[in-house]
Amino acid sequence: MTEHLTVVDHPLVQHKLTLMREKHTSTASFRQLLREISHLLAYEVTHHLPTGTKRIETPLQEMDAPVIEGKKLVLVSILRAGNGLLDGILELVPAARVGFVGLYRDEETLQPVQYYFKVPQHLEDRLVIVVDPMLATGNSSAAAIDLLKQAGARDIRFLCLLAAPEGVARMKEAHPDVPVVTAAVDECLNEKGYIVPGLGDAGDRMYGTK
Ligand code: URA
Repeated sequence: MTEHLTVVDHPLVQHKLTLMREKHTSTASFRQLLREISHLLAYEVTHHLPTGTKRIETPLQEMDAPVIEGKKLVLVSILRAGNGLLDGILELVPAARVGFVGLYRDEETLQPVQYYFKVPQHLEDRLVIVVDPMLATGNSSAAAIDLLKQAGARDIRFLCLLAAPEGVARMKEAHPDVPVVTAAVDECLNEKGYIVPGLGDAGDRMYGTK
C-alpha cells in the first residue's frame, strides 16, 4: 500500500456505520454491525497481499489457481475495543496469528499506559495489521506501533472504523510508513478526547458497559 490514508467510502460500509453511530442502536446490533463492517474493511486492508499460484485439480482439469503467498499474517488487537474488529477479520482469515496490546488511556493526560503485550514470533517476516475501532488522539495507536516495531515488525498497517483528523496527523507524524485504513474521518476531538460526531465509547457500546 502506498497511500498513508485510505477511506473506505463504500455504500454498505457507510450505511452500517450510520447505524452504529445512532445512540439508540442496541449492544447486540452494534456488535453485529461491527462484525459486518470488519469484513468489508478487511477486504480493503488485505487488498495488496502478495499472491502466487498453486497447481490444483478441479473436477474438470488441472489449473494454476491463485493463493495468498508468504508467512501467515498477524492481527494485533488493541484491547479492548480492538477485539470487535479482530473477531470479524478472523472469520475471513482464520489462519492469521493474533497478538494483543493492552493500553489504557489516562483520562487526564490522554496518554497511553501499557498493561499487556503478547505477540506472535517472527514479526519481521510478516504483515502485521493493527486493529482498533477508534483512532482518536492517535497516542495509543502510535504507542502500540512503537512496541510492535521494537518487537521486530516492519510491515505494519493500521485498521480502524472511525478516525479524527488529529489521530490521522499523529500517526502520519509518528509512523509515516504505516498506512491507515478507516471507514470515515470525522470533524474533530472534543475536550475529553472523544471523536465528534463519532459514536461514543466503542468498547462500552460493544460490551454494554458504562
Ligand atoms: N475511544 C472511543 O471509544 N471513542 C472515542 O470517541 C474516542 C476514543
